Amino acid sequence: MSRLIAISNRVSVASGELSKASGGLAMALTAALRESGGLWFGWSGKRTDRFSGHIDFNRVDGVTTGTVDLEDQDIDEYYNGYANRTLWPLFHYRIDLAEFERDFAGGYQRANVRFAETVRPLIEPDDAIWVQDYHMIPLGRELRRRGCRNRIGFFLHIPWPPPRLLATLPEAQELVRSMFAYDVIGFQTEEWLKSFCTYAEEELGIQLVDGVAHADGAEVRLISCPIGIDAAHFEALADGPVAIETAARMRESADKRVMIVGVDRLDYSKGVEERFRGYERFLTESPEERKLVFLLQIAPTSRGTVESYRRIRETLEGLSGRINGEHADLDWVPIRYVNRNYRREELAGVFRAAKIALVTPLRDGMNLVAKEFVAAQEPGDPGVLILSRFAGAAEQLTDALLVNPHSAEEIADAIRAALRMPKEERISRWRTMKANVDREDVHWWRTRFTDALMAPPLRTAEQVSSESA
Ligand code: G6P
Repeated sequence: MSRLIAISNRVSVASGELSKASGGLAMALTAALRESGGLWFGWSGKRTDRFSGHIDFNRVDGVTTGTVDLEDQDIDEYYNGYANRTLWPLFHYRIDLAEFERDFAGGYQRANVRFAETVRPLIEPDDAIWVQDYHMIPLGRELRRRGCRNRIGFFLHIPWPPPRLLATLPEAQELVRSMFAYDVIGFQTEEWLKSFCTYAEEELGIQLVDGVAHADGAEVRLISCPIGIDAAHFEALADGPVAIETAARMRESADKRVMIVGVDRLDYSKGVEERFRGYERFLTESPEERKLVFLLQIAPTSRGTVESYRRIRETLEGLSGRINGEHADLDWVPIRYVNRNYRREELAGVFRAAKIALVTPLRDGMNLVAKEFVAAQEPGDPGVLILSRFAGAAEQLTDALLVNPHSAEEIADAIRAALRMPKEERISRWRTMKANVDREDVHWWRTRFTDALMAPPLRTAEQVSSESA
């Protein structure tokens, strides 16, 4: 099998220290790279006065990493700017928060050129390259421009927006055109894949036949490939000593109350504000049940230099404080709101002790917390998953209680339904979800993508032009 080179903005091997701050991408890639003996290349997360292209190599938990430092201007315009103030909000359907600045677009392009120039000499002819996520959309084209003929795939971890939303991005056409330098493009769900295809056909006039795009002579496979978790590993963590101790601690502090849990990076796309409002509605509407529960919301801060992230943090502090002030009693606080990060084994214990999970993003590429909650449950007495219908995971976990996260009423209804759900129903819903989480795990995801990447090549633009010459 060829060596795999994964390229992503954040390089954080999942069991290392850095992984504490990262999302599902880190978990999934670590598991995939450990098996293929490959290299993981990207940004170090550090700044430098002058970009030199120096690569810092490390070996962490069986995975070789190569990282570069970036200049302040790159960090501002590429990471904080185009990636997190333009693409992230827009791709999560928040044009109201998206900022369109030519400097951001320029910085994004420059950083991608720098990544391409730096990683190019490391690439050997047989390597397969797998580019990850919205930070690096044009990287494939930059590698091609530098003579790279390897198989190159791209996987998007976040949603792909509907065509009319994407059209608000000044560079949309150019950005999407650049993607046809890849051999394979993968999306989390059929829905995002369809949005991409519609844009490519209608805005760019690209022809699509049986999941293959024909663009400027090149043929590009388009697939939906939902990311999974390392289910067996997470289940083992939930059965391990740290999780058992954490679960016992949580049960004791719950004092016979039902614990509802939410775990999210502190991001406006996660719908935590709307979740608090839905929970408050439940508190108001169900006086007889309200003191039987409490909500533990874990939300480690994220992207703290970006204004919209500072605002959501302030909003949640204010809202949780107000709800607690209005509803708490001498011996009960309705929301425990925690901004810290916890180790995976502790989280597994928290999930095991919780009877209900609220995973209610307004829009989410996948959401691996939903899958981790399912994997951590006790088979004989599982908890209930309340899941947003706008999370990618809702395409697979159809036996969750699916809600519209914008509706406080639906969230309140779902909490009541979860509290009253008979054990047999909990078990039967959980079994179906667990079977999916086990089957379509991170190894399945990796294989599904790399099989498409390694499949007999379709024609590249180069071949087409040499044939016609
Ligand atoms: C999401 C993105 C990842 C990103 C992660 C953490 O899961 O899809 O690409 O790494 O969030 O965000 P951060 O900006 O801290 O890397």
